Amino acid sequence: MLLLSVLSVARVLSSEECLRPATKAIVAVQLTGCNTDCGMVQVKLANDDRWLGVVATPWTLRQAALACKSVGFDEAVSASSPRRNVKKRATAVLEEAVSSDCGDLASCYGAVDEIDSQQGVGVSCRSAGQAVGNATAVVEWKERARARATRVNQALLHASTIPKSPFTNQMLNEAYVFADELRDEWHLMDSTLSARLLVRDQYSTSALGVILPSNETEAEIAAEFYLSSNPHAHFLYETDYAAWQNVPIVDDIRAEEIAEALASDGVAMISSYGLSDSQLDELERQARTAVSGSKNLSTASNGRVATARVELPAVEQILRNATISSALKRFLGSPHIVLDGYKATELRTTTTSTDAYIASLWHHDRVGRRIKLFVYVHDVDCDAGHPTQIAKASHKLFYYRTDHFAATRFTDAYVQANFDILRACGSRGGGFIFDTNTVHKGTPEGDRDRLTIIAEYHAAHKCPAAAALNLGLPCPSGDQFPLNRRL
Ligand SMILES: *[C@@H]1O[C@H](CO)[C@@H](O)[C@H](O)[C@H]1NC(C)=O
Ligand SMILES: *[C@@H]1O[C@H](CO)[C@@H](O)[C@H](O)[C@H]1NC(C)=O
Ligand SMILES: *[C@@H]1O[C@H](CO)[C@@H](O)[C@H](O)[C@H]1NC(C)=O
Repeated sequence: MLLLSVLSVARVLSSEECLRPATKAIVAVQLTGCNTDCGMVQVKLANDDRWLGVVATPWTLRQAALACKSVGFDEAVSASSPRRNVKKRATAVLEEAVSSDCGDLASCYGAVDEIDSQQGVGVSCRSAGQAVGNATAVVEWKERARARATRVNQALLHASTIPKSPFTNQMLNEAYVFADELRDEWHLMDSTLSARLLVRDQYSTSALGVILPSNETEAEIAAEFYLSSNPHAHFLYETDYAAWQNVPIVDDIRAEEIAEALASDGVAMISSYGLSDSQLDELERQARTAVSGSKNLSTASNGRVATARVELPAVEQILRNATISSALKRFLGSPHIVLDGYKATELRTTTTSTDAYIASLWHHDRVGRRIKLFVYVHDVDCDAGHPTQIAKASHKLFYYRTDHFAATRFTDAYVQANFDILRACGSRGGGFIFDTNTVHKGTPEGDRDRLTIIAEYHAAHKCPAAAALNLGLPCPSGDQFPLNRRL
């Protein structure tokens, strides 16, 4: 505290700082624009009712961890800097010394400033006790990626067609919500691609990504070309595609149906997970208690989304369902999968909030192939019940950038024009299972709250390796009751 006041005095005395408003205590912190475990950091300062974006220099994992602690998590997975080209707005400014001296953001100080072209810093958070890395696997993958790059370069010596650029300004504007922020990077990708030789017509490309051909050599070439400017690309290629193994067909017709729906559409609707009425009553009771309590509860977007990370014993029967496990192993192409955890999530219809709920923009989860399983604990109306909307078959795309937030938010017009849209709704006790590599969105309109249980699964090798490589991928998601259960 003494150090703090000395710093404040020093700042007042510094002539260039004189125009800065005085620093005030931060009284509240929230995340907005992503999910309950990620998003842009917003704070309220004393005697000011506005939620303000935050600018801080530096904004590293250490500072991001302060924000994560303030909203109930243990650590930060990634820290993102302010996005550019966003319209002018009031922003809280955190001073370097202050922000690293306090135990969490809510005991820090900030100042309000009008800053052009800044929207503020972002974070992705998680609870302790999730995925640890496996260095052996990582070394193997790096070697494979190096060998692949060599093979591809040799193959290209024999190619002769000059590629046409897939990235035009018009394409960016049509497909991306934050096209302005992508222009520089896309032009760079463009010149990288144009500078190389590529028989492009063999691959199916779109504004959003590339469909890898089934021929292994061509898939390698496509991956190397279209995805090599993406720091995550080698990793996702290795974990989601190259590492696919054949999991034996099981003697369970329903499991095969679910796996096939996932493979062709990226989503499988489940009319019933097999719980009885009284089991469903109990599940609903547990879920409602969880989201109306205060333990391990996070809210985002002005309270519009609430997620409880607490144990819900009544969901166990679904999580132990052998048909579902077999289906997911088939689809994920791995005999070993991990049930990372689950949460109860409520989408609330708030009448006071006019804030955009950014998960209601079309997006993918920027982590490649992974599964989320939704259980409806009450009937979900297709119009008024905030159904999740899913662009069918969009999970087959490898997206150009998974590390860049702006590259994961797509326009409604583009998605409507290019994909069949499924509105995931139905009776209680049912739900849906989907690959979060599909383009999907929440539905902000509707006057009925939606309470669901959401469980998450990955191929067993994926998240430990992502953690060991320090990729900052949300693998697994941070806002869950962690299980880390190998199936
Ligand atoms: C780590 O990865 C290697 C190679 O993929 C595998 O053989 C080993 O079993 C893994 N170790 C653990 C603890 O998962
Ligand atoms: C397992 O899930 C399927 C639907 O995916 C359901 O039809 C079946 O009844 C469930 N089995 C048990 C034992 O709950
Ligand atoms: C809250 O979450 C932690 C892990 O993050 C877990 O160990 C604990 O059991 C949870 N609390 C409840 C009441 O479920």
